[in-house]
Amino acid sequence: MNISERIKYVGMTDCVKKRFEGLWPLPYGVTYNSYLIMDEKVALVDTVDCNFAEGYLENISEACQGRKIDYLIVNHMEPDHSALIARIMEIYPDIQIVASAKAVPMIAGYHGIGADRVKVVKEGETLCLGSCTLSFHMVPMVHWPETMVTWMPQENTLFSGDAFGTFGAVECDDWAAGEGHLMGAPRQESCLAEFRDEMIRYYSNIVGKYGAPVQAAIKKLGGLDIRRICSTHGPVWTSEIPQVVALYDKLSRYESERGVCIAYGSMYGNTEAAAHALAAELQKRGIPYGLHNLSLGDDVADDLGLSGAIRDLFKYDTVAVGSPTYNSGIYPPALGFMEAIAARGVKGKRFFSFGSYTWAAASTKLMDEMALRSGETLLCEGKAFAQAFSTEKCDMGAVADLI
Ligand code: FEO
Repeated sequence: MNISERIKYVGMTDCVKKRFEGLWPLPYGVTYNSYLIMDEKVALVDTVDCNFAEGYLENISEACQGRKIDYLIVNHMEPDHSALIARIMEIYPDIQIVASAKAVPMIAGYHGIGADRVKVVKEGETLCLGSCTLSFHMVPMVHWPETMVTWMPQENTLFSGDAFGTFGAVECDDWAAGEGHLMGAPRQESCLAEFRDEMIRYYSNIVGKYGAPVQAAIKKLGGLDIRRICSTHGPVWTSEIPQVVALYDKLSRYESERGVCIAYGSMYGNTEAAAHALAAELQKRGIPYGLHNLSLGDDVADDLGLSGAIRDLFKYDTVAVGSPTYNSGIYPPALGFMEAIAARGVKGKRFFSFGSYTWAAASTKLMDEMALRSGETLLCEGKAFAQAFSTEKCDMGAVADLI
């Protein structure tokens, strides 16, 4: 697929892997984007996941049409993009790796490739390919410390690594019905509305901890006249660049909209009944919400469990967490979500806890304490109810009135 006369897409679509990083469900797949820049010299930007070597190498061979590749630009060393560095070097033994200084020990550690094979570039350094010149800009912690982006001014194109990336690899029109067909390659038309939720989920799940470095990167890149973003995951952005950048800007500033992320774990359905009661009260009042069962073990496209809950944590200004008291503490799936809130540095949410207990309430008090330590404010004191849920024991209408 030609992105332009000089830039060719050679990445791969993954609709096989169930969980990204072994954690995050992929109900709509993901793409590993890689690009060839064909000039007097040929440069390959990033590689793909190790499970897609065969098709990827075919893509490259077809695009190169017998030409050798001079440079392999390594913007990011996470193995979903760097896994095939050694294979590429076997096929193109004269190729020179171009990477940041911090990538050098990672390239050695993952691939056994010495520093002598790496051209280390510094902030703003350039590389002439003939008619176009690339420049390199360090964006540490977006999403690893070695990360850089590559700017191609002749085409106003930013090869942005994970930044501005998203989950999703299928046409999205029928996502709700769980139907779709393979994209095959990133689209270049307007599609942010379709990808928005998956982009928020990708950002919040993967990069969410690094809001400050993302802000620094956005400021650093702010002076560039970007008209095309070639990220490592999802569409090539051309027509909605201000909106795409604005969404990452908003997420990395931890700004959210009015609404409630309801996330719960439940052993026997009593805490779950309370979560659904809160959702029903919000529905009555027209308050947006997301409802997520943290106990789900399998990938469910219309819930997404912890992954969907983290997405809605970033999306909404209020978070309600349900947990039964379990071993005198917080039920483990709910504890995992509380830890995810703290790990991502999410502060300033309005927080509400609820949950069932049988003989001694503990979970709501412990969750309230964790939320306060994370920097949230309590919507009200957590509501623990004995055994089965009922409105008399736990009035979710009164809670919804506070939101
Ligand atoms: Fe898509 Fe941080 O790797």
